[in-house]
Amino acid sequence: MSKITAAITGVHGYVPEYILTNHELETLVETNDEWITSRTGIKERRILKGDNQGTSVMAVEAVKGLLEKTNTRPEEIDMLICATVTPDLVFPATANIIANQIGAKNAFGYDLGAACSGFIYALTTGSKFIESGTHKKVVVVGADKMSAIVDYTDRTTCIIFGDGAGAVLLEPSEEGYGVIDSILKSDGSGEPYLHMKAGGSRHPATIETVTNREHFAYQEGSAVFKFAVTNMADVAAEVMEKNNLTGDDIAWLVPHQANKRIIDATARRMNVGDEKVMMNIEKFGNTTAGTIPLCLWDYESKLRKGDNLILAAFGGGFTWGANYIKWAYDPK
Ligand code: UT7
Repeated sequence: MSKITAAITGVHGYVPEYILTNHELETLVETNDEWITSRTGIKERRILKGDNQGTSVMAVEAVKGLLEKTNTRPEEIDMLICATVTPDLVFPATANIIANQIGAKNAFGYDLGAACSGFIYALTTGSKFIESGTHKKVVVVGADKMSAIVDYTDRTTCIIFGDGAGAVLLEPSEEGYGVIDSILKSDGSGEPYLHMKAGGSRHPATIETVTNREHFAYQEGSAVFKFAVTNMADVAAEVMEKNNLTGDDIAWLVPHQANKRIIDATARRMNVGDEKVMMNIEKFGNTTAGTIPLCLWDYESKLRKGDNLILAAFGGGFTWGANYIKWAYDPK
C-alpha cells in the first residue's frame, strides 16, 4: 500500500473591510509612513470593527468559502483545528464555535496556541491525522483578531499587527502530494521578549492589570527580530537540506509576514529569488496565525500541481518551524 500524505485540496481567506493605514496610525502614535514602510514593509492592515465580533467571525467566513470552493458539505468534516492566540473566549475553544457556526456536526476540534507559528504547527498536527488513516477531511484554520490585544498607544507594536483568517482543507493523497516533511521547534526562554502579561491564570484580570495596560501584546521588537531572522532562515534551510532541495527546486517560499526584512533574509538563505516569495505584508500586516494561509489564498491562482513550497514561521514562545509541501492542484 502506498503511503498516505495530507494534500491541501483548497484554501480560502477572509479579511475585514476596515483598512487601518499608516497615515491613520500617524494620528494615534508618534510614527510616520516612511518609518513603518522602511522598517517593516507594511502600508496598511485590516481591522475587525463592531461589538461581539471575535476571531471566529473571520474564521467562519474563511471556512464557509473553503467548503463552497471544494464542494464539501459541513457534515463531511471530521476534524477542525484553529490556530489562534486571540480566541473568542478562554473556553470553549474557538474551533468548537466555528464548527457549530458552519454546521460541522461530525467534527471534533480544538485550538492550538503557537502564536505566529500557529498555522505551521496546526497544519503539521492535522496532517498526522490524515497520514494515520483515521481522518479523511481536516480543516486547518489560522485566525487572529490582533486588534483585540494591541495597545494603540504603543508605537512599537501597533504598527505591525492586523486581523485576518485563512483556512485549508486537508485530504488523503496516495500520489505523494501535500505535506511531505515538517520541522517544528520551540524555546520557552523566549517568554520575556513576547507575551501578554495578564488575563491568564498567573495574573487574572483585576482593576490593576487593566490600569497597568497588561492585557496587550508586549514585544521587545529588536530582541525578537534577532531570534526571528536567524531561526526562520535556519529552519527553512534545514527542511530543504533534509529533503535534498536547492533554491532551484523551490517554486514558492511562503513566509510568515512579520517583517519584510526577516522574509528577505530567509529567501536569501534559501537561495530563492524575490519572484518566488509570497508577500502580502504591505496590505495585511502581521495577522499572526493568519499570515501563511492568507498568502496561499492570495497566490492560489499562481500555484501549479507539483510545485514545491516551503512554509516558514517564527513567533511568540518562542516557536518556529517549516513545512515542505508538494502542491496538489492546478488553478480551478
Ligand atoms: O510575528 C512574530 C514575531 N515578531 C516579529 O518577528 C517582529 C520582530 N521585530 C520587528 O519586526 C522589529 O523589531 C520592529 C518592526 C518591531 C521594530 O523595528 P526595529 O528596526 O527593530 O526598531 P527598534 O525597536 O530597534 O527601534 C529603532 C528606533 C527607536 O528609536 P531610538 O531609540 O533609536 O531613538 C525606536 O524608539 O525606532 C523607534 N521606533 C519608532 N519610530 C517611529 C520604534 N517604533 C517606531 C515607530 N515609528 N512606530
